[in-house]
Amino acid sequence: MPPTSVMSVSFKTGLILIGFMGAGKSTVGRALNRHTGLPLVDLDEVIVQQQGRSISEIFAEQGESAFRCYETEALRSLDSVQPRIMATGGGIVGRPENWPLLRQLGRLIYLRAEWPTLKSRLVGSTGRPLASSEVSQEALRELLEQRRPLYEQADLIVDTDNREVDEVVREILDRIKETE
Ligand code: S3P
Repeated sequence: MPPTSVMSVSFKTGLILIGFMGAGKSTVGRALNRHTGLPLVDLDEVIVQQQGRSISEIFAEQGESAFRCYETEALRSLDSVQPRIMATGGGIVGRPENWPLLRQLGRLIYLRAEWPTLKSRLVGSTGRPLASSEVSQEALRELLEQRRPLYEQADLIVDTDNREVDEVVREILDRIKETE
């Protein structure tokens, strides 16, 4: 990947990263931010700021359904004027009302990773109530399978298994440029 200074990338729309927990949305988001100069927003961080609590605290105190309401609220609070890179939480695809909000914010990019990759990345991860040690591997895999057809409604699907971040970023930038 050439350094940012020699890349001429300009996007009219935002780039919205979706995919399962552990797919690399935050990591790829940071790399895209470096290469495009577009501001980076992590929707989970917006929720934490707006609610003044961690994701784990929200789940523990109010449960998942409250978290989903806060997630939609956070999405609604973002304007679509400024194009941005946005990393979303893995469950953002679950609520139908989130889809028009997401599409308004930019192109949806599904960072696809298969179960063995996700499983190895999620082992021992903290701060993810739906992937805690109390959740069985079977349940987690089932959740992935339930969400898979939703993720596949993205504008772009990019594979991340066994690939370096830079390679993933290059593919995203090349494919988006083709359609600008
Ligand atoms: C969730 C994914 C998390 C976070 C919350 C719920 C999910 O974000 O939003 O713990 O339902 O998949 P990451 O995908 O960034 O881990």
